[in-house]
Amino acid sequence: MNAADIAIEYHERTKHRPERYAAGPETLDWTSQPDPFRAFAGSPTVRLPLCAGRLAHDGADTPPAFSLDSIGALLQLSLGLSAWKEYGPDRWALRCNPSSGNLHPTEAYVIAHGIAGLDAGLYHYASRSHALEQRCTSAAAHPPGLWIGLSSIHWREAWKYGERAFRYCQLDVGHALAALRYAAGLLGWEVRLVAGCNSRRLAALLGTARDQDYVGVEREEPDLLVQLTRPAQLVDPAQPQAVAEPAPWDATNTQWSGQANILDPHPMYHWPVIDEVASATESRQDEATAPPRDYPPGSAATHLPAPEVIMGRRSAQRFDPQFEMAAADFYHLVDSLLPRPQAPWDIWDYAPAIHPVFFVHRVDGVAPGLYILVREAAAESRLRQALSDEFEWQKAEGCPDSLPLYRLQAGKWQKVARAVSCAQSIAADSCFSLGMLAEFEAKVQEDAWRYRQLHWEAGLLGHVLYLEAETLALRGTGIGCFLDDAFHELLGLQGKRFQSLYHFTVGRALTDTRITTLPPYPDRITDDMEKNP
Ligand SMILES: Cc1cc2nc3c(=O)[nH]c(=O)nc-3n(C[C@H](O)[C@H](O)[C@H](O)COP(=O)(O)O)c2cc1C
Repeated sequence: MNAADIAIEYHERTKHRPERYAAGPETLDWTSQPDPFRAFAGSPTVRLPLCAGRLAHDGADTPPAFSLDSIGALLQLSLGLSAWKEYGPDRWALRCNPSSGNLHPTEAYVIAHGIAGLDAGLYHYASRSHALEQRCTSAAAHPPGLWIGLSSIHWREAWKYGERAFRYCQLDVGHALAALRYAAGLLGWEVRLVAGCNSRRLAALLGTARDQDYVGVEREEPDLLVQLTRPAQLVDPAQPQAVAEPAPWDATNTQWSGQANILDPHPMYHWPVIDEVASATESRQDEATAPPRDYPPGSAATHLPAPEVIMGRRSAQRFDPQFEMAAADFYHLVDSLLPRPQAPWDIWDYAPAIHPVFFVHRVDGVAPGLYILVREAAAESRLRQALSDEFEWQKAEGCPDSLPLYRLQAGKWQKVARAVSCAQSIAADSCFSLGMLAEFEAKVQEDAWRYRQLHWEAGLLGHVLYLEAETLALRGTGIGCFLDDAFHELLGLQGKRFQSLYHFTVGRALTDTRITTLPPYPDRITDDMEKNP
């Protein structure tokens, strides 16, 4: 089988079906959940300041230079802890980025050259303590720059979700990418995907290829690399900055430190298909070249959620089934999913390949029914051809002309939405829920690497919905558990041309008052206040 066929076959066998869910553990011992925090024993640690709110840049002042303060703010507002929660004997951390099952498979690495307060080298971000663990220092001469790499520890998700876990890890990467883009925007910085950095080079850059540092512990799979830049006019007005890949670490000038910790000393299962799909979907590009950028870089200061919104983002666990949202808010949320030269879409170098199909339940002035947002004009004819002939393709009443949102069929879909979402009431009691249709088979056949990227794009959409809903005093929840083909069938889809990769739901949340919320870094409140009285 070629790599694309392996990815497509993986997708097929990890579908949830009413009669049989994707293969997963038959029993779960909750007391043996893998450690959600990776740590590198023996690595020197650099404590990062907690100063997210103070450093957020409102577009008027000059974006801060790269420093420990500003990198601390970036990481705090993207991948840092947002709270600890307590219920009875249980205590768990939440982060600014969401994660399927709160299992957090995504790890982040900082590559820093020429930044005051940081030796040139590679650092692992330890979200629990908001610190950088130094993985290596380099004595070689490097041009200055700042990069962040993301990797996934598949076992964290596979522990609970079995074979389907690779999909969830990729969706989480998409969320983390959007979270980084928004946080960088608040600092006035730009972010570019280093699209040409293939998986082999990335594994070397992030140190995840170093067998000697991961002896007997769960490995990490490198996913992507982004470069952070300050707006071009602050650096060299004449030279728009090209995306650059950091130089590889050379053996003579690089000093490595740290041993990765073990996350689950007694794994009960093994899901080899995850290793197979991970290997099949590695990026194999040899040249450090980026694909053509479809969207020009936008103004970083436009349309960004406030730091409090980012820190306050939560998944709704229940919705108020009586609440009806305003049409203007609904159209705003739909509109925020359109690719534009602004955060987070300006990070995405590819033509949009995800088209959400909405179950509209309770939106004042918008008829309940099934709707589709066509995120790329050229995809409309392909979608019309693939979806059921019975669909109306009518513009919704009151829908802004600029919005390519069409009603496919009027009607009440709560029961269906709940059923296709693995019987989760959050898909029916909300104001609307949705499934994200990807242009699937052709993209994956083009390059198996696109299998990961399609999930990242879906994660980007999910993250926009989380933060935009929060800004409107509503709340969202990602839905990774859905019955794939049941959803395709109700849309009249056949074959694998379009596949749903992620579902989502938005409404007014009902909060569980029995759960106590504690600050994310309780022992550091004092030093934060000293800095920021
Ligand atoms: C990819 C993904 C899939 C998810 N799937 C579900 C789901 O099927 N059902 C659900 O109730 N929550 C789901 N969630 C929400 C997570 O459980 C939630 O993000 C996690 O518990 C952390 O809580 P927080 O989002 O409030 O920080 C999903 C989240 C993500 C990112």
